[in-house]
Amino acid sequence: MSNIVVSGASSGLGESIALHFAANGDTVCAISRSKEKLEKVVTKYSDNIYFYSLDISKSEMVINVFSSIFKDHGLIDVLINNAGIHMNSEFADVEYDLKDKIIAVQYNF
Ligand SMILES: NC(=O)c1ccc[n+]([C@@H]2O[C@H](COP(=O)([O-])OP(=O)(O)OC[C@H]3O[C@@H](n4cnc5c(N)ncnc54)[C@H](OP(=O)(O)O)[C@@H]3O)[C@@H](O)[C@H]2O)c1
Repeated sequence: MSNIVVSGASSGLGESIALHFAANGDTVCAISRSKEKLEKVVTKYSDNIYFYSLDISKSEMVINVFSSIFKDHGLIDVLINNAGIHMNSEFADVEYDLKDKIIAVQYNF
């Protein structure tokens, strides 16, 4: 069994990936900003899925939360870095504020 970290695990693809590995018996550390949404995911497999509230665009938070994960579970075998913001428009048409946010989330972590 492996230690697996899934970012963006509170909904969509990340939630499905986290639940798949938890059902497989792996230890899953589920990351997203929303504690409330993550708690709902975690209650489905309370034995081997753990939530960590983290905004991956904040470097200092990333370091602190990953230090906690290492302390709680040891080394990570697999990181599924799924968290992100999906754009439905051309990059050139996106407002600057949103561009900055997308770059911080997609490329900081
Ligand atoms: N669905 C598509 O058609 C599609 C196409 C191309 C690429 N993608 C990419 O595939 C990934 C998953 O897509 P999806 O449709 O499943 O997305 P989704 O349902 O919108 O889920 C995105 C996840 O990322 C988390 N997240 C967003 N910003 C975050 C941040 N700053 N820090 C930590 N977590 C953050 C969200 O949780 P919180 O809000 O709780 O933080 C959520 O759990 C995304 O990276 C997306 O860009 C999707």
